[in-house]
Amino acid sequence: MSNLIDGRAIAQQIHTETGRRVASLKDRGITPGLVFIRVGEDPASQVYVGMKEKKSAELGIRSVTRVLPSATSEADLLALIGQLNADPQWHGILVQAPLPRHIDQSTVYAHVAPSKDVDGFHPLNVGKLMLGDADGFIPCTPGGVHELLVRSGVKLEGAEVVVLGRGNIVGKPMASILLQKGKNANSTVTVVHSGTRDVAGHCRRADVLIAAMGVPEFVKADMVKPGAVVIDVGVNRVPDASAKSGTRLVGDVAFAEVQPVAGLITPNPGGVGPMTIAMLLANTARAAESAGR
Ligand code: GUN
Repeated sequence: MSNLIDGRAIAQQIHTETGRRVASLKDRGITPGLVFIRVGEDPASQVYVGMKEKKSAELGIRSVTRVLPSATSEADLLALIGQLNADPQWHGILVQAPLPRHIDQSTVYAHVAPSKDVDGFHPLNVGKLMLGDADGFIPCTPGGVHELLVRSGVKLEGAEVVVLGRGNIVGKPMASILLQKGKNANSTVTVVHSGTRDVAGHCRRADVLIAAMGVPEFVKADMVKPGAVVIDVGVNRVPDASAKSGTRLVGDVAFAEVQPVAGLITPNPGGVGPMTIAMLLANTARAAESAGR
């Protein structure tokens, strides 16, 4: 039997659930609205936002993308966010990263109304996650990893979970989600990072190993306990002379050698990636439900 966690199939289940929520909002005269802000012409951001818009439309969520020139000032970007915060037709606001260097990302994320912060990056939502307050929005990637684990029947209560990476977008919120006291969490979480001694030793103790540090194929077979669940969040572009573009994408896990050791493992692509959009649109439906109450 395959030991793959099918992220596309699980994301599709969530899209189906979100589509039903959108339909029932529309029955009440509410069309969920999601606005994307893209600053500059980063090619990866163009692709990501395009995918998010397409899926929004499929589910009946109204979306637009506001594209600003890369020379836009931080003040002008904050002013646009302020207008969108005040406009009731938009339930969710997503400012696509990366932003140009002259714009401070944390200032921008702190400017999005917490009730519209479907990315879960506003300090209030970060704090709510830490406090275990389910009212807030959870960042989409770690939220998606959690859904993958729960919907794959992975027992998290009491599990030894090792998170590789302490970034604000994945590592830290991932650890927060799993250490909360309660069902589908209550794990013993270790966060491994660049200051950690004996990284491999920590990894080998993990029942669930979540790789999110952005180092191509860092997790090798001898770092994985036989039967462990391995989740690969990494998206790394590496040189590949045999590819037409001269590069290819690889994860943080050396998949070919780790798969035979793992109990369950995410493919990459087709694992965590599709879950991020699913969680974003589920968050948008929830923002519209809250606004319509
Ligand atoms: N850029 C890459 N991933 C993300 C994300 O989850 N949210 C935003 N806003 N930008 C991103």
